[in-house]
Amino acid sequence: MGLLNKKVVLVTGGTKGIGLEIVKKFLSEEATVITCARNIPEEKIKNVDYFQLDVSDSLACKNTIESILNKYGKIDVLVANAGITKDAMTYKMTDEMFDDVININLKGIFNVVRYVGPTMENNGTGSIITISSIVGQYGNIGQVNYAASKAGIIGMTKSWAKEFSRKGKQIRVNSIAPGYILTDMVKSVPEELLKKFSDQTMLKRLGEPEEIANAALFLASDLSTYITGTVLDVNGGMRL
Ligand code: CAA
Repeated sequence: MGLLNKKVVLVTGGTKGIGLEIVKKFLSEEATVITCARNIPEEKIKNVDYFQLDVSDSLACKNTIESILNKYGKIDVLVANAGITKDAMTYKMTDEMFDDVININLKGIFNVVRYVGPTMENNGTGSIITISSIVGQYGNIGQVNYAASKAGIIGMTKSWAKEFSRKGKQIRVNSIAPGYILTDMVKSVPEELLKKFSDQTMLKRLGEPEEIANAALFLASDLSTYITGTVLDVNGGMRL
């Protein structure tokens, strides 16, 4: 039997990159998988339910989550993954670049968890996984907006781990902090920087999306029932 058998899972931003890999992994473990994204691809994965959603829109999040709950009755696992980059040196960063990244990456996770978390409290169980980043832990040149959003996600994760379990409910909230993972987002980084990032890891390579999906599977499943409030580094030992 699959590790996520009978679990209803919502993955935000599950149409590409790390989110897509998580969707595939969870399907292979027999979860009922729902994803939402700003743009729904024409080629859909069989057995995945797609909802069009911009997570920075609070009202749209409320309505979409209501629709999902009406259809499926519950959400057991939430992977709050949707995120973007708009990199620039600080002196070149526009208000729009700063606000877009904060609104999607940080407020977007708040917008989803604020409507999913209470339903998990009613059910008495649930696992919420947020996707932060090594950049939120250690910073990165040209990414102050992204670093701020990802550091904020870690703060929200720990706060929710406390808040949603305060009455003894088995609701776990953890974050995965990926290092540099070979997605289109990372592949857009200049090659010489990628080589530098790869050399900085203990394993001397960048990560594969599936290596994040495996970590998400662990945190989503009943293999991690005593783990909450943590940040799981999946970065090849880039910082020790
Ligand atoms: N380490 C050391 N120096 C760096 C650096 C780095 N990571 N990034 C930039 N610099 C230096 C450059 O060498 C340059 O130095 P000088 O002024 O001495 O010449 C200076 O900073 C400015 O850099 P650029 O000339 O590249 O400036 P630019 O305005 O053309 O571009 C930039 C700025 C868009 C930020 C570009 O440097 C860039 O794309 N950097 C990569 C940003 C990055 O790492 N993004 C990660 C995306 S993936 C992701 O975010 C996922 C995740 O969670 C990890």
